[in-house]
Amino acid sequence: MKTLFPSLALLLLLLAGCSKTPEAPPPAAPLAPPSAEIRSAAAQRGKAIVTEAFSLLSSNLQTAIQHGGVSNALPFCSLAASPLTASMASKHGVALRRVTQKARNPADKVNADELSILRQFEAAIPASTNPPPPIVTNFVASTATFFAPIILSKELCLQCHGVSGKDIAPENLAVIQRLYPQDEATGFKLGDLRGAWRVDFPLATLSAGR
Ligand code: HEC
Repeated sequence: MKTLFPSLALLLLLLAGCSKTPEAPPPAAPLAPPSAEIRSAAAQRGKAIVTEAFSLLSSNLQTAIQHGGVSNALPFCSLAASPLTASMASKHGVALRRVTQKARNPADKVNADELSILRQFEAAIPASTNPPPPIVTNFVASTATFFAPIILSKELCLQCHGVSGKDIAPENLAVIQRLYPQDEATGFKLGDLRGAWRVDFPLATLSAGR
């Protein structure tokens, strides 16, 4: 035991010494913001993707309403929104989501980084009659992230996201509550920020000049 102990201690010391180099990088330097080229490429492609995704969702929503009213469109949205969004994402080779501070689908709830972007949009709304401009940022070095505000700008939206009892008919509210027991996405008014589109671009897809 007497002889074993020092050699064991030495071994541990050596092992600790070994693991030290790879395991303790210097504190991460703050990430430099994306370059002007990256920002403009992400803004341009982001706007196009979001416009296409929005019109795909709206045309499906309108068809569902025509076929059986809002109470039919609600379960339709519930089934179709995620696969439609996912199809747009894979078509363009990006990650695409809708994020919101008041979620209907709990999967769309913002994280802290996204919430700070939504706060910036909210702060910009009163200053102009136009929607706030998109924001391009980076949370990790390999990816540029584009955000575009979603403003609740149509009367139609109120039927499912407005004030319950006033804009949302009782029978539709019942459907919402059945499909989304934790729904937070009511009580909005025209002109309110409903959330944002988020598009994540791997940097390689932007700098390749696509
Ligand atoms: C027929 C009812 C209905 C109408 C009309 C409607 N929505 Fe929704 N909305 C939903 C449902 C249901 C979901 C949840 C979809 C899901 O499960 O992914 C949703 C989700 C969303 C989300 C994603 C965030 C979240 O809370 O999950 C946004 C953003 C949104 N709607 C904006 C709008 C806007 C803007 C309009 C008007 C153009 C609109 N909606 C009209 C039913 C509706």
